[in-house]
Amino acid sequence: MTDIKLYGPFCEIVTMDGLSLHGPLQDHELPVIRNAGIVVQDGKVLDIGGYHQLFKKYAAAERVLTETKHQVVVPAFIDCHTHICWAGNRANDYAMRVSGKSYLEIAKAGGGIMDTVLATRSATQEELVTLILKRTESLLAQGVAIVEVKSGYGLDLDNELKMLRAIKETNNHTSAKLIPTFLGAHIRPKDFEGTHKKYLAYLVNEVAPRVLEEGLAKRADIFVEEGAFDIELSEWYIKEMQKLGFEMTVHADQFSSGGASLAVETGCISADHLESIDEHSITKFRNSKTVAIALPGASLGLGMAFTPCRQLLDNDACVAIATDWNPGSAPMGHLLAQASIIGANEKMSIAETLAAITYRSAYALRVNAGTIRIGDNARFTVYEGDDFRNIFYSQGQLHPTHTIIGDECIQH
Ligand code: NIG
Ligand code: FE
Repeated sequence: MTDIKLYGPFCEIVTMDGLSLHGPLQDHELPVIRNAGIVVQDGKVLDIGGYHQLFKKYAAAERVLTETKHQVVVPAFIDCHTHICWAGNRANDYAMRVSGKSYLEIAKAGGGIMDTVLATRSATQEELVTLILKRTESLLAQGVAIVEVKSGYGLDLDNELKMLRAIKETNNHTSAKLIPTFLGAHIRPKDFEGTHKKYLAYLVNEVAPRVLEEGLAKRADIFVEEGAFDIELSEWYIKEMQKLGFEMTVHADQFSSGGASLAVETGCISADHLESIDEHSITKFRNSKTVAIALPGASLGLGMAFTPCRQLLDNDACVAIATDWNPGSAPMGHLLAQASIIGANEKMSIAETLAAITYRSAYALRVNAGTIRIGDNARFTVYEGDDFRNIFYSQGQLHPTHTIIGDECIQH
């Protein structure tokens, strides 16, 4: 039993409670409590409501964050797709890309995913922990409390396990929560002797069972694309991994369509990227539990079109937004800036954009988070100001003052 803390007063608390998981949202639907406070005990939300009532009701509570007059609160953000476990640097790829070089030319010059694989294989587990931690702390400073992290730069038994162990170990050094995903099926590494099918079979038979045995990940991902894994092989892999008990997610429709439909049809929990999704595939998200995850960081990093979030929402999809933070396609790693920018481009309401980085991204990870509700684990972020819309209006330039995670109040 820990002491009771009363946080506030806050001009506005946007709880995100009771909103629809799917489809469009309008700003007037947002549940906003004004002149309010939040009571936390044992890391959980004990009460929310008018500050003065709470002040009287919890007379003995410790008062926290009372100094600032104008402050607002939203649920802490969730980055549901990242590759922040990597070593090395691909600034050279970026320079070539912005000078107009093609993917093939970049790969020939020693760039691309394989370059990061070689650098990550050379790093020790401890070095990876340091790198993941630095990136996690940068996300946490933006108010991101839950971060999905993929493997996928090891691409053999020892190195995939090393990456996943590093992700697990990093959880012991940060207040943020890291959720690991096994991405052995990122590409077939150049040094694997055998076909793409043989490589996937190796993952299913030799790597995935070890991942499960060691409790390193319950989720797995595959990059469905020409040059990575085609639809037929991907379908086989998804079904085999589901038989092993993995929740499946896919990198789909980044450059060509087909992967998103496959994801929905095979019951994957999310289909991520979707910059090149076609009209027919968009309609499949209606009544589907597969979350459509937009990755604006990859559009910005590659100079490509954004995922058609407006059309997806209008077709009743559950749309989440994540950074895809990785050394190749998405080097920026700023969730709020990216969400604001895609929101402006796609004509998403502030409610839709906020939902996409809170409870809808929580659903993409199948975790209970992204709302501020009595009984929830406390995870919320505080900004200066009296209107929460400034958070998006500032397009990433308004930084949170504090993030509360459990019993901890982190000052930024
Ligand atoms: O999500 N598309 C595949 N994988 C990553 C890129 C990884 C890399 O370039 O290192 C992505 O964009
Ligand atoms: Fe990715």
